[in-house]
Amino acid sequence: MSTRDSWVSNVGFVLASIGSAAGLGNIWRFPWLTAGNGGSAFLFVYSLIVVGVGVPGLLAEFVLGRRGRQTPIGTFRSLIASRWGSALGTFNVITALVILSFYSVVGGWILRYMLASPTGAYFGQPQQFFGTISYGLQAVVFHLLFLGVVAAIVFFGVSRGIERASKVMLPAVVLFLSGLAVWTATQPNTAAGYAFYLSFDADYLVANFSSVLGPAAGQALFTLSLGTGAMLTYASYLDEDVSLPRNTLVIAFSNMFIGVLAGLVVIPLLFSQGIDPGHGGPGALFVSLAPAFASLPGGTVVATAFFATVLMAAVTSGINLLETLVATLIDCFDVPRRRATLLVSLLLAVTGSGLALVGPIFEFVSGTLADLLLTVGLFAFVAIVGWLLRAAALAEFRAGTDRFAVLAEPWLLTVSWVLPVVVLFMLTNTLVSLAGVSLGAAGRAVVAVVATVGCRLAVAARTDG
Ligand code: TRP
Repeated sequence: MSTRDSWVSNVGFVLASIGSAAGLGNIWRFPWLTAGNGGSAFLFVYSLIVVGVGVPGLLAEFVLGRRGRQTPIGTFRSLIASRWGSALGTFNVITALVILSFYSVVGGWILRYMLASPTGAYFGQPQQFFGTISYGLQAVVFHLLFLGVVAAIVFFGVSRGIERASKVMLPAVVLFLSGLAVWTATQPNTAAGYAFYLSFDADYLVANFSSVLGPAAGQALFTLSLGTGAMLTYASYLDEDVSLPRNTLVIAFSNMFIGVLAGLVVIPLLFSQGIDPGHGGPGALFVSLAPAFASLPGGTVVATAFFATVLMAAVTSGINLLETLVATLIDCFDVPRRRATLLVSLLLAVTGSGLALVGPIFEFVSGTLADLLLTVGLFAFVAIVGWLLRAAALAEFRAGTDRFAVLAEPWLLTVSWVLPVVVLFMLTNTLVSLAGVSLGAAGRAVVAVVATVGCRLAVAARTDG
């Protein structure tokens, strides 16, 4: 097998990983979820979950990736000597394919909005505009364009494509968002938005804690790109001499910062238009921001900058997912990178176009199916790290770090017991709503704990016997 591509520097890896994390999830989903779930209360719960669950989970994927030095299939084949390894890796690859298929369709919408912004084409009738472009032939065309941009970067490889693109695009995203946040602060009628977003409302939190928990946990895992082996793949290109815990903290906090920054743009703008942030749906953000852009001075310029920012953020996430698929063909079947990129992109062109044509399927895939696949994938990762690898995982955690070495044991404890329960709680949420069963938060928590203990015992029985 030819030598594997790798990062030129640790900074490149960190920027690419922040780029993966900060995407549509931060700019499109996070402000919306925050606005719909009590503003500051959501922000608070979300931050706790990122620190308590997201950070250890991300570290688990990084540990797996650097230990295995392969994409998911190869990594699990070598780390767990059983045919379950290939099966799990294949499951991860399918998940990445599913996520990128719908992600690319939304990327296409963003591209369409960016191109329509200089003329303000959607300012007059935002709802109708979204209706025309969201599903159908236009959606297919712009999905293909977005995919083409992502593929063009992955085509050039890890160091010459992904690392270079991330080094340009991620700083640009932060710069643009900061500028937009400043512009927003100068607009009229935004005070209520800031108050809602930033002042802490303990009463709301107490009254709504259990209903905020599910969306906050889902967002924390989606935004950190967990569950597909995409972060695992990026870490597989890392050397032993860099500190995984430090990298993880830098990545998670930068990502959180970008989300908060996006909220500082979107939430005050929504409030300035008197828009009730309680209603969601995939088109919500596009449709509600249009009147803000239309009514404010320099709206066309700001709208163009906004969608250009979202587009760059989406591209740096898309390349992570595509790399996972392309690198799998390279690692497992020795397909040359360029041919692999072409093959995978052709497949995605078809799957994404299907979603772009059929709205109800798009909504199912981007909602319930994505939730299911990501939580199952993440559960498998934490079970492998926390229940099977253990000593090897601790060694990998400690490699390249002195300062954080003392955290290795507490981290493993969290991965072995806290994460499985949280992830199974989320899985239960999804399954319960899918089955239409009514089960309170406490009931779901009990299911999660019982299922975790059951799985733990089953794994122990197999490995001992
Ligand atoms: N984290 C990205 C976002 O918030 C999306 C993303 C990139 C992703 N890679 C992923 C989600 C892998 C799940 C798995 O937009």
